Amino acid sequence: MGLFEPDTEIYRDRDVLREDYQPEKIVGRDTELRQYISALQPVINGDQPSNIFLYGKAGVGKTACTGYLLSELQSDAEQYNVNITLIRTNCEDLSTSYQVAIQLINELRLPSNQVTTGYSKRQVYKMLWEELESVGDTIIIVLDEVDHIDDDSILYQIPHARANGNLSEAKVGIIGISNDFKFRESLSSKVQSSLCEKELQFPAYEADELRDILRQRADVAFYDGVISEAVIAKCAAYGAKDAGDARQSLDLLMETGDIAVEKRTSELAESHVDEARESLEKSRVVEGVAGLTHQGQIVLYALLMLNEEGKTPTRARDVQPRYEMVCNRAAVDPLVPRRMRDHLGELAMLGIANRIERNKGESGGRYYEYSLDTSPKLLLQALQETVDVVGEIETTAQWFDGQT
Ligand SMILES: Nc1ncnc2c1ncn2[C@@H]1O[C@H](COP(=O)(O)OP(=O)(O)O)[C@@H](O)[C@H]1O
Ligand SMILES: [Mg+2]
Repeated sequence: MGLFEPDTEIYRDRDVLREDYQPEKIVGRDTELRQYISALQPVINGDQPSNIFLYGKAGVGKTACTGYLLSELQSDAEQYNVNITLIRTNCEDLSTSYQVAIQLINELRLPSNQVTTGYSKRQVYKMLWEELESVGDTIIIVLDEVDHIDDDSILYQIPHARANGNLSEAKVGIIGISNDFKFRESLSSKVQSSLCEKELQFPAYEADELRDILRQRADVAFYDGVISEAVIAKCAAYGAKDAGDARQSLDLLMETGDIAVEKRTSELAESHVDEARESLEKSRVVEGVAGLTHQGQIVLYALLMLNEEGKTPTRARDVQPRYEMVCNRAAVDPLVPRRMRDHLGELAMLGIANRIERNKGESGGRYYEYSLDTSPKLLLQALQETVDVVGEIETTAQWFDGQT
């Protein structure tokens, strides 16, 4: 027997739990789907599509609902002799309107006729109009994760292409999707009003909604009898507590399944969910900490100490002396307070620390308070290298003793 053999006791089809799997039916989201359908209504009437801006946090079904509705729209439209061309683009790896335009042109062109860079912006737009005109009819362009684009020129150009005489046959609508609530505010007002003709917001999922989503996937992914309601409910409860993110919940379910496989049990247990959560949390923290610069790790270590001494939430200026002390031990030059504060901000962005804004009251003005948002034990493991260099300092040393 070789080292590898298929084990199929648990999973019927594990890939179903991956994020790129398009579910046949959307679970719940009735209100949102109704609004989305009404925003798309002009298309089926053969009219110019409205531009739609869809926003909501990660994992709330923006991409899945869009994919689902657009395929339904396309097949329903055939019945009414409306011809729709869909172009779905993820802007994650694109940073400018220029790159997006090239991507769109290439989606419309044959593989043997692709454009690369080297053209002026003007030439690229001209090619884009030509391609869109040659398709004609109704064209819907999805720009998923549109907040990755730094300049909004394409978000202005496409909606105004008809008015500017660049298009006459083609009726083009844009669907812009964003995780970032602030993206809308960052747009110039002329772009805002053209892109956000119809605005849709998807809220985070509640536990019972996550439970239904997980149930749907679990039925396909696992063999009958392998997974109980209780296990699903537990994954959903954690998911709702974390961020109401269906992607995270599906990841948790998959990790739970993997642990059951690893343990060679015949079904998933609730205790596997806890183990799975710990293991996912651990990789998140380890990856987060490994991605920090040495300075970032030192700032984190200082915050960790203050946390263990019960001195958090704390202000950046109260972290500074401790930070300088750790620098001293590590034989590293300390940063000025401003730079140190940037590192605290980064920790908050990574979800390792928590940052709350406070008001000074009468005198006005605001400041931030920082605390840890991650298990200290995990952080300590992830910070081991820094701890080795710096050494265990005073109270932290006592705390280590307490731990072991
Ligand atoms: N209402 C839903 N019904 C079925 N699956 C869903 C639903 N919402 C989200 N999902 C699934 O959860 C995962 C994350 O959803 P996704 O649409 O990618 O989120 P977003 O684009 O908002 O970040 C995907 O695998 C998706 O299929
Ligand atoms: Mg998405």
